[in-house]
Amino acid sequence: MKNKIAFITGIAGQDGAYLASFLRSQNYEVRGLVRWDSYVDPLSGFQRLDELDLVNDDIRLHTGDLTDAQNITALLKEIQPDEIYNLGAMSHVKPSFDTPAATLDINAKGTLHVLEAVRLLDMGEKVRIYQASSSEMYGNAQPPQHEETPFEPCSPYGVSKLAAFWMARTYRNSYDFHVSNGILFNHESPLRGQDFVTAKIARAAAEFEQGRTQAVELGNLDSIRDWGHAKDYLRGMWMMLQQDKPDDYVLATGKGHTVREFATHAFAHAGIPLDWRGHGIDEVAINKKNKKIVIRINSDLFRPNEVHHLLGDPSKAMRVLGWRPEISFEQLIADLVNAQRNTIWKRTQSEAGAWARMAG
Ligand code: NAP
Ligand code: GDD
Repeated sequence: MKNKIAFITGIAGQDGAYLASFLRSQNYEVRGLVRWDSYVDPLSGFQRLDELDLVNDDIRLHTGDLTDAQNITALLKEIQPDEIYNLGAMSHVKPSFDTPAATLDINAKGTLHVLEAVRLLDMGEKVRIYQASSSEMYGNAQPPQHEETPFEPCSPYGVSKLAAFWMARTYRNSYDFHVSNGILFNHESPLRGQDFVTAKIARAAAEFEQGRTQAVELGNLDSIRDWGHAKDYLRGMWMMLQQDKPDDYVLATGKGHTVREFATHAFAHAGIPLDWRGHGIDEVAINKKNKKIVIRINSDLFRPNEVHHLLGDPSKAMRVLGWRPEISFEQLIADLVNAQRNTIWKRTQSEAGAWARMAG
């Protein structure tokens, strides 16, 4: 039997890389969309695919951009996928306030380009589509949030994702498309972009363990997020497309933690017990062992509008898909801090090698 073909936009991102690896293990033929500037530095551009040993695997990468409708149409015509995973996005919430128009172009119009290409190419009956929707669409709606919770987005990113969400629903209801929205709560991994808060904290914890002295600056410590491991979430994306009927599902752990709690656990994993002192922008975290400040607040890192409390109720995905997260909060933290330790170790080794070569 012919292998299924999956097309992943955003394949070089965190979820795209894990999903590509998972789909290869299921014998899919995997095709991915990468932007032209991902090619500028192949080493950093494909770092995540490289990390998962996928660069030399037989996935095929196609140069393109979600903002280019003709490009997306031509690629879908050529690839004829069985499943499309639309993960490509401007995925950073804070910078979306600085680039709202680009955020809307990529996230909302980009999704429209995928849906319209499928319609114009008469592929609607054959192809199944996963749309990467986000818990950020809930904004400050009352937690726990589930599929029936009214959306109240608070950022250009949230608005752009909500437009894409409704566009996907509209194509499902109007043209009978098999398109499902995964409303995913925060999911992290060692492949996470370095300026998301979990990566930033895990990196700082590992660096302080190795002798860093300068405090790391954070923004809102009180915000609560429902953090899971990305490896659990991509399985849920795939499960949605294996259902006879398309639908929308929340994927979350159902447990919330403040940024402060996350930092306390991550630093503890690195052997640094924290003592929190002060309030508001004067709050600091002190290393109990040597009384030095390791975390302080920088008000520039707050968002113009904060989303305070995201906590997902994944009951529907558990009941209908049989999905459940398997990696605990503690295991997630250990994975993130250990990965940062590993990066520091590799950097030290390569610097030591360079010194040895110069000396020799
Ligand atoms: P990510 O690591 O930032 O990956 C996003 C990918 O999109 C990157 O590979 C990026 O390409 C690509 N991209 C950006 N602009 C593009 C454009 N104009 N055309 C084509 N591709 C473009 O994000 P992620 O964490 O894997 O998230 C995957 C998706 O799930 C995103 O849509 C995100 O918004 C959504 N989501 C994520 C979470 C989460 O907690 N991770 C939760 C809910 C929803 P480059 O590699 O070239 O930059
Ligand atoms: N990035 C960052 N940097 N966030 C900080 C910092 C900091 O120094 N200090 C505190 N925070 C707080 C933010 O204000 C936010 O409340 C929380 O930490 C998490 O921020 P991020 O890690 O940037 O993630 P996010 O929740 O804004 O967005 C992520 O999750 C969404 C799903 O809810 C992204 O992956 C989005 O793409 C995704 O849709």
